Amino acid sequence: MNRTLLVTGGAGFIGSHLVRLLVTKYPDYRIINLDKLTYAGNLENLRDVEDRPNYRFVKADICNFDTVLRLLQEERVDGIIHLAAESHVDRSIKDPFTFARTNVLGTLSLLQAAKAAWEPTGYLMPGPVDSVMPGPDRASIPCRFYHISTDEVYGALPRGGSLFTEQTPYRPHSPYSASKASSDHFVRAFHDTYGLPTLVTNCSNNYGPCQFPEKLIPLFINNIRHRRPLPVYCRGENVRDWLYVEDHARAIDLIFHEGRIGDTYNIGGFNEWKNIDIVRLLIRVTDRLLGRTEGADDDLVTFVTDRAGHDLRYAIDSTKLQRELGWSPSLQFEEGIERTVRWYLDNQPWLDRVTSGDYQHYYETMYGAR
Ligand code: NAD
Ligand code: DAU
Repeated sequence: MNRTLLVTGGAGFIGSHLVRLLVTKYPDYRIINLDKLTYAGNLENLRDVEDRPNYRFVKADICNFDTVLRLLQEERVDGIIHLAAESHVDRSIKDPFTFARTNVLGTLSLLQAAKAAWEPTGYLMPGPVDSVMPGPDRASIPCRFYHISTDEVYGALPRGGSLFTEQTPYRPHSPYSASKASSDHFVRAFHDTYGLPTLVTNCSNNYGPCQFPEKLIPLFINNIRHRRPLPVYCRGENVRDWLYVEDHARAIDLIFHEGRIGDTYNIGGFNEWKNIDIVRLLIRVTDRLLGRTEGADDDLVTFVTDRAGHDLRYAIDSTKLQRELGWSPSLQFEEGIERTVRWYLDNQPWLDRVTSGDYQHYYETMYGAR
């Protein structure tokens, strides 16, 4: 089946892995990557697929309703996978307005545009609230609005014990997670009120190549390489549940095609790690790959003031996704970390261009100044 998919935020970390997967796996699909190219968007991430005939890049802001609607109509888009967002918790603490604008209003603008574009097709059928099982009609609906969200909307778990399930009530603590929670609610409201064919997934922490080096793993790999301090918040006792980014992209592909309209799926690898243990692992692997004595850089660890409102523990129960759609993560964490460290060490010019700001000129070079 030919499809035209709009991926928002496709120049970012997860979005670029997803775009690559879709462009190469589905040569009959047209993949349109809409991205504003904020500091987090980097078209170099997609250099290897940018010349494919089934790929198009559009520089635009999801908050611009008219532009988005025109694009959906002109390109006859029948699927939207929405990743564009402000994604860094520390930035949200300093500048919550930007997070509300992009994550809440941007998502609303996209929902309104999808509704306006798809309403004339007759596919928007409000059903009873909470009825996620597709009847024969709903199953055949060709359009899909798939919203990518985070486990942070569920709040924080105590040490050990329970996991976040799809039934866990929302209890966001940071401005970032509050903005993502709000966008999730809008997506479900558009399903329940207007019959927009939606899907929502909540995923745990991703790691892998092409992540902006403000996030824990790439920041620390780069700092170890340059023997700079590693600023561990508080005592490093917080726990995160880590998933290799390509496994997330595979889950998105599967859920987009086979997920039940109106439903929610948690995505995670049952892979909990205390921050300080990850930091020690990163030091060992980076030292070894650089030919240094393993652990030689342990003294770079610097305990610093805690993040405000720092969630103690995230842990995702992805049993539903595994049982219903047969997805499971492909990589063991140690293997994924080795691959990731190797990638950043082998791609120091990428890191240098990102940290110097040079990557932001790639768009002008490729597409001309606009
Ligand atoms: P990222 O910050 O690396 O990329 C975000 C992308 O969105 C960038 O390319 C940026 O230019 C673009 N963007 C930002 N504002 C925009 C706007 N107004 N209009 C158009 N494009 C805009 O983020 P990421 O880590 O790849 O996360 C992608 C999505 O996945 C986000 O919605 C995030 O909440 C979610 N998520 C991330 C993780 C994670 O661990 N990184 C985990 C679960 C869910
Ligand atoms: O859980 C999913 C979320 O994971 C995504 O929704 C977010 O977009 C993504 O940024 C990530 O959020 P975190 O806040 O968990 O990721 P971050 O890499 O910023 O931090 C991971 C942990 O490491 C967290 O407990 C804070 C800690 N940390 C982070 C940084 C940047 C430090 O101790 N020192 C640091 O310098």
